[in-house]
Amino acid sequence: MKIVKNPEEMTRVASDLRAGGCGLALVPTMGALHQGHLSLVGLALEGGRRTVVSVFVNPTQFGPGEDFARYPRDLEKDAALLEKEGADVLFAPDAQGIYPEGFSTRISLPSFENVLCGPFRPGHFGGVATVCCVLFGIVRPDVAVFGRKDAQQLAVIRRMVADLRLGIGIVAAPIVREPDGLAMSSRNAYLTPDQRKEAPAIFRGISAAAALARLGAPSAVELRAAFEDEIGPGGILSIQYADLVDPSTMVPMDRLDRDGLFAVAVHAGKTRLIDNAVLRPGVGAVEV
Ligand code: PAJ
Repeated sequence: MKIVKNPEEMTRVASDLRAGGCGLALVPTMGALHQGHLSLVGLALEGGRRTVVSVFVNPTQFGPGEDFARYPRDLEKDAALLEKEGADVLFAPDAQGIYPEGFSTRISLPSFENVLCGPFRPGHFGGVATVCCVLFGIVRPDVAVFGRKDAQQLAVIRRMVADLRLGIGIVAAPIVREPDGLAMSSRNAYLTPDQRKEAPAIFRGISAAAALARLGAPSAVELRAAFEDEIGPGGILSIQYADLVDPSTMVPMDRLDRDGLFAVAVHAGKTRLIDNAVLRPGVGAVEV
């Protein structure tokens, strides 16, 4: 596996890989890789595609007071994991490489930024969309792989790629969970043992909402109540939101009368955890 830090060199290497004719995939990450990230690499490599994995802790998607400075970084370990997984290139640029002096562009998707995580993380999705667009420009992949764990991010990227006609196929990867149901996340490393013990209640809450969906067409209020019952009041976990929205447009839904994304954010102390499921009335949780 090649490790590339310079964006110009990355563009040259990517163009050589593309010339092989097997297709080129990009998996954007912020590193501190776990099994969830590696499952994306597995999907990227499917069908013999050559695969670039980027590791870049993107400053422009962190708000003031968020965890940019303390976000876990371990490039050596990431490189070893990616090598084992069969990735072709690890692209690890520095901030200067991605945002050289004079960089002025900012992508925004206002209607996607005022629901779910948006109001709690002002500027976050603009930062994500912008850095992904830059990475797409450097690598020019045929496909890019994103996890359903970050469902709002996936919707933002899909919309941006469609709107800007970038011609990149977006592959969505299922959420990878710990055996007790907690969605894998680099931020799980922040949890204290007590918080870690409580955290699986988030998936139990999502499963309770899915069970309601299986029975019919619950309202958003009923879904939230089912989730709240599992989290309970005044404990280690506190709910920031538990909302039902259209899976593609992120427009809020009052009732699950068609496929809906039930998405939640929960705090365990300072650590913010997100999870979600796409629910179908009369069926339960589905992947679309
Ligand atoms: P990061 O949090 O490192 O996640 C990189 C990719 O891994 C995202 O597409 C995310 O949805 C996926 N992922 C993380 N945990 C997962 C899990 N448990 N199961 C399945 N997929 C999972 O998301 C980002 O980085 C950044 O915002 C980025 C897109 C790289 C832009 O900076």
